[in-house]
Amino acid sequence: MSNIVVIGTQWGDEGKGKVVDVLATKAHVVVRFQGGNNAGHTMVVDGKAFISHLIPSGILHKDKVCVIGNGVVVDPGVLIQEMKHLQDNGISVEPHNLYISENTHVIMPYHKLIDHGRERMKGDRKLGTTGRGIGPCYEDKVTRRGIRFCDLIDPEVFEEKLSLILHEKNFYLKNFLKSKTVDEASILEEYLPYAEVLRPHVTNISVLIDQAVKAGHDILFEGAQGTHLDIDHGTYPFVTSSNTVAGNACCGTGIGPTQIHGVVGMVKAYTTRVGRGPFPTELHDEIGDLIQERGAEFGATTGRRRRCGWLDTVLVRNAARINGLTGLAITKLDVLSGLKTLKIATAYQYKQDRLTEFPSALKVLEACEPIYEELPGWSDDITAVQDVDDLPENARAYVKRVEELVETPVQIISVGPGRKQTIVLQDPYDRS
Ligand code: GDP
Ligand code: IMO
Ligand code: MG
Repeated sequence: MSNIVVIGTQWGDEGKGKVVDVLATKAHVVVRFQGGNNAGHTMVVDGKAFISHLIPSGILHKDKVCVIGNGVVVDPGVLIQEMKHLQDNGISVEPHNLYISENTHVIMPYHKLIDHGRERMKGDRKLGTTGRGIGPCYEDKVTRRGIRFCDLIDPEVFEEKLSLILHEKNFYLKNFLKSKTVDEASILEEYLPYAEVLRPHVTNISVLIDQAVKAGHDILFEGAQGTHLDIDHGTYPFVTSSNTVAGNACCGTGIGPTQIHGVVGMVKAYTTRVGRGPFPTELHDEIGDLIQERGAEFGATTGRRRRCGWLDTVLVRNAARINGLTGLAITKLDVLSGLKTLKIATAYQYKQDRLTEFPSALKVLEACEPIYEELPGWSDDITAVQDVDDLPENARAYVKRVEELVETPVQIISVGPGRKQTIVLQDPYDRS
């Protein structure tokens, strides 16, 4: 029995959906523990792409149990749409294979209005959020006036909580954000039917996972976003509002740290970022454009063009420590094929100092210049390679160098979006 966490080491979109879909073959239960529908996780099966925002990326496997943890924030309308989309494509999403924690917080219409209103008011200083109401929902959770799924499915409690909070939300929306306000009757009309659809899925997931663990089942925890979007460890304030790191797999589901046996850090072979915030290795030249085009680097949630740059191992090393990584999964190596020379940042130059650890102060990070190491590229198409020994020598050397710099073994190499385009060097489930 092994319980594995998969997290992003960069700024999200490392290919977590693909790798979780592949690893789910071995797991019994797949669990999301944080984030919401700001996430967009792509799985490609037989050439067909599925983008999941809330439902764990194990759902395409018929016999898996998928769980949305208490650490997630859920927009029920979006969840129902996603369930329907999967069902319309012949994928079973039923109360016996999709569970939602009773403690999961509900994204309400006012959260989305506040998210948009704040971004609008900030103008040039906006964060570039996904506009899905994520931050305002987590904010209500922490200030203890959120609405949880156990409240949503009890109409009496839901009405009472809603009516208490609307007064304040509308005051803020109208007077501070100069935004439109919300109306209690329309929210009830929209949300009470959501509760009817979702009620059979709502349960105590801490107990459910514990029972699975006791039955000897393997649990796969699917992170969203990436380590540098973490509310504590990321490039604050250009971050999301949850803890995206592996430690939150426990808090966000209700299991103990002793139940985690491995943490796989997802590393895109280069770096991308959507939204605003510092990005030391960002490329503003034709190589950046080439990577963006070849990698089809558009946000899976908002469709925004992703900013692209060289691989930054200061960043990934930081993630290795914070998450206690036991292995790496390198994705999109195929995108780098054809580039004559590749660069990897190994440290930062800050004024007179050479920094090897990721700085916290935004002002310092913004002034950092990456110190690069150059490696020769390869020209062959690697998208059909199944065995590491069949990779071009320079591709193998690139992977080896990442492994050395991050001091963590590479367990998986992904050479394309499809399930089969995956080279497993070391099975994360193998604890021998
Ligand atoms: P996630 O948010 O971490 O799940 O990643 P996204 O799904 O937002 O973005 C990753 C994108 O890269 C998706 O379009 C995937 O289908 C695609 N992808 C994943 N792995 C590979 C790979 O090894 N090579 C290529 N070319 N594409 C990949
Ligand atoms: P996945 O799981 C990339 C970014 C947004 C913005 C910041 C805050 O697909 O890797 P938010 O709406 O969360 O308040 O926005 O975080 N962001 C992501 N970037 N991948 C994601 O998820 C992201 N989720 C949020 O672009 O910069
Ligand atoms: Mg994504």
